[in-house]
Amino acid sequence: MSVAAKGSAPTLRLGIIGLGGATKQMLPSLASHPSVRIVAASDLRPEARERFTSEFGGQAYEKVEQLCDSAEVDAVYIATPHQFHKDHALLAAGRGKHIIVEKPMALTMSDCDAMIEAAARNKVHLVVGHTHSFNAPVMKMREIIRSGELGAVAMINTWNYGNFIYRPRRPEELRTDLGGGIIYNQVPHQVDIVRLLGGGMVRSVRSMAWVLDPERPTEGSHVTFLQFEDGSAASLAFSGYDYFDSDEFHFWVGELGDEKAQDGHGKARNALKQIGGAQAEAAVKSAGAYGTAAQKPASSSADTWHQPHFGVMIVSCSLGDLRPSPDGVLIYDRQGRREISVPAPRIYPDKGGVIDELYDCFVTGRPPLHDGRWGRATMEVCEAILASARDRKEVFLSRQTPVND
Ligand SMILES: NC(=O)c1ccc[n+]([C@@H]2O[C@H](COP(=O)([O-])OP(=O)(O)OC[C@H]3O[C@@H](n4cnc5c(N)ncnc54)[C@H](O)[C@@H]3O)[C@@H](O)[C@H]2O)c1
Repeated sequence: MSVAAKGSAPTLRLGIIGLGGATKQMLPSLASHPSVRIVAASDLRPEARERFTSEFGGQAYEKVEQLCDSAEVDAVYIATPHQFHKDHALLAAGRGKHIIVEKPMALTMSDCDAMIEAAARNKVHLVVGHTHSFNAPVMKMREIIRSGELGAVAMINTWNYGNFIYRPRRPEELRTDLGGGIIYNQVPHQVDIVRLLGGGMVRSVRSMAWVLDPERPTEGSHVTFLQFEDGSAASLAFSGYDYFDSDEFHFWVGELGDEKAQDGHGKARNALKQIGGAQAEAAVKSAGAYGTAAQKPASSSADTWHQPHFGVMIVSCSLGDLRPSPDGVLIYDRQGRREISVPAPRIYPDKGGVIDELYDCFVTGRPPLHDGRWGRATMEVCEAILASARDRKEVFLSRQTPVND
């Protein structure tokens, strides 16, 4: 694989597959990496391709195959809808491209297996993300836990309440069997975070999940109890029904790190009522994608931005508790309460951990932390949550993998 030089650091030439909402959020972090050059994209929508070439130059292809055939591309970021992740990953791996694939990695264990196998066979790196486990405060908490200064992890409690269920969707995003609902879209963030902090090896899952609005017929809330192999445990709660907003318990900082208005409760549900019908709702969702007339300029560094987060989380170790704060980590131990700040990111909103991880693999050859096995283990937990909630049983796991650091 060729590595072109830009200054002294090797340049990673990146192609983007899928110019939708996820890419719009990720672009500032990709574009601001000093050694990454965005050289190509693929999307079915001509307006997205036109916008891409006017913003970045390079090539914009209609077909993913064309992008993967390009000798100008070293790696791809796959941000197409879930059901295409496997096929697009297999295409990219088959042409020797390193891969970042968005969460959820895929919708079945066998698709995850095929992606892992294709990456290994073609000797390319596969990073599964973005999830909020890449957040700098979460990585800092992992570092503190590994240092042993707070003793062993006992319990991890995390809550996220927001408006997920009432954001505009395409019809398939309201069907669990097609990857809709919180279990495939939001819970992977929670599972990735608690697995990272708890060591990765989930032993068993008990869960209840609910469809509380029949007009949005997919899971919108769950409460789950995970036991880890080492005897530690985690509880996870998520509600997407736009009543309580757990950002109230995180200093009124939003998921991406933006300072947030305190009177937003119910606004997403009411806005959706005005739209009128599935087709109109899908059109509103599309209007928010990259390359549309409604696209606002990307955010950049600003005093009002903080670190991204995914709700309230407290980790209890034998010698103290810790939790993410807006700009770092709060530690509560025998010395009292103190805050450790983490370095400000290159740009806000910050999703830079994903491209940093792939770039590190590209340069050093080291395997990624969030590799295919890691992503598959997180999906095993998500599948187990659905099974446990459906069958009212504890589900024991077999495809877990420890944190590789
Ligand atoms: N990590 C995060 O925080 C986060 C946030 C949003 C979405 N996502 C993930 O990103 C993925 C995409 O979600 P989204 O909300 O951006 O969807 P989206 O519908 O907004 O965007 C998908 C894009 O892919 C394009 N596309 C669809 N099929 C294609 C194909 N065969 N070839 C080329 N382009 C194709 C569409 O035209 C569209 O522009 C999902 O898997 C989702 O879970 C992750």
